[in-house]
Amino acid sequence: MRRGTIIFLVVNLIIIGFLVNACSTLISLLFDSKDAARDAILRSDIPALGEDFVGNSTELIPKILHQTYINSSIPAKWKPGQQSCIDLHEDYEYKLWTDASSREFIAAEYPWFLATFDSYPFPIQRADAIRYFVLHFYGGVYLDLDDGCTRRLDPLLIYPAWLRRTIPTGISNDAMGSVPQHPFFTHVIESLASYNRNWGMPYISVMYSTGPLFLSVMWREYLWKKREPIDRLRILMPDEYSKQAWAFFKISKGNSWHGKDAQTIFWMGKHWLFLTVAGFAIAGVVGGCLWFAWSMWVMRGSRTSPGRKGMGFWRRISGGKERYELLDRTV
Ligand SMILES: *[C@@H]1O[C@H](CO)[C@@H](O)[C@H](O)[C@H]1NC(C)=O
Repeated sequence: MRRGTIIFLVVNLIIIGFLVNACSTLISLLFDSKDAARDAILRSDIPALGEDFVGNSTELIPKILHQTYINSSIPAKWKPGQQSCIDLHEDYEYKLWTDASSREFIAAEYPWFLATFDSYPFPIQRADAIRYFVLHFYGGVYLDLDDGCTRRLDPLLIYPAWLRRTIPTGISNDAMGSVPQHPFFTHVIESLASYNRNWGMPYISVMYSTGPLFLSVMWREYLWKKREPIDRLRILMPDEYSKQAWAFFKISKGNSWHGKDAQTIFWMGKHWLFLTVAGFAIAGVVGGCLWFAWSMWVMRGSRTSPGRKGMGFWRRISGGKERYELLDRTV
């Protein structure tokens, strides 16, 4: 192989390696179903409906239910869901975190985060962030307001912490439970500031700075370190979340994201095969162009082989002047 070719390949491999390394956590999300299955809360771990007896397992998560809204005027469409949870859990403490009480709480208990909290351009980012902090501080169960409850949450209190699985990949932040100061939520709140970036599209910025994508990346990172059994993060699978009769929640979504970029993302999700092929095609064309440019650049210096076709091309666009003597050395 020519030296030029080798340099070209090495440079490209370095660039690809750098990109893959930078995205490794995201790439690993594509292959996370084994991890989710390993830590899944099994159907057999959950008592039959009407039998909420937890047996001799100790409840670890405190009986606190957290929800968030702008203020205390909950919209009528969410009131039945909210009420269903309150009614089923009369012995639980109920905490509704409003914009005002969230900020007060951060200022009082996590003042080091207040500047980041205030800097978020989208209110939904504060609504995302506050749930991680209240779970870290008080422990309990956080639940989105558009989720209603179908049975008592007691069987989920015997785990130190749990998150909800989303299909095909990752986890969500709309229903989570934890003991106070769980190492996962410590990792989450300590990482928030460094993920506070603008990615151009609001949907992506929110998802990746505070939302489910951010939390999924946190989950991957958390799994990479060796943990004590007590710190194991359990995963609530779709069947136990809302799909089956024995599930815990009833969802009334309505994904609340209707922005242009959210639609773009959903469109991309639907057309992933086309996009993958197009991606490879574009990468091929770009690679081909780079290769062409590189070989031209190499050839224009290689006067030792004047018979090559490339020479005429370069003479033409360089006005026929031979200005490339120095480049001879590179070949
Ligand atoms: C709560 O927020 C909603 C939506 O911004 C607003 O319409 C309503 O007046 C607010 N209620 C109170 C009590 O401030």
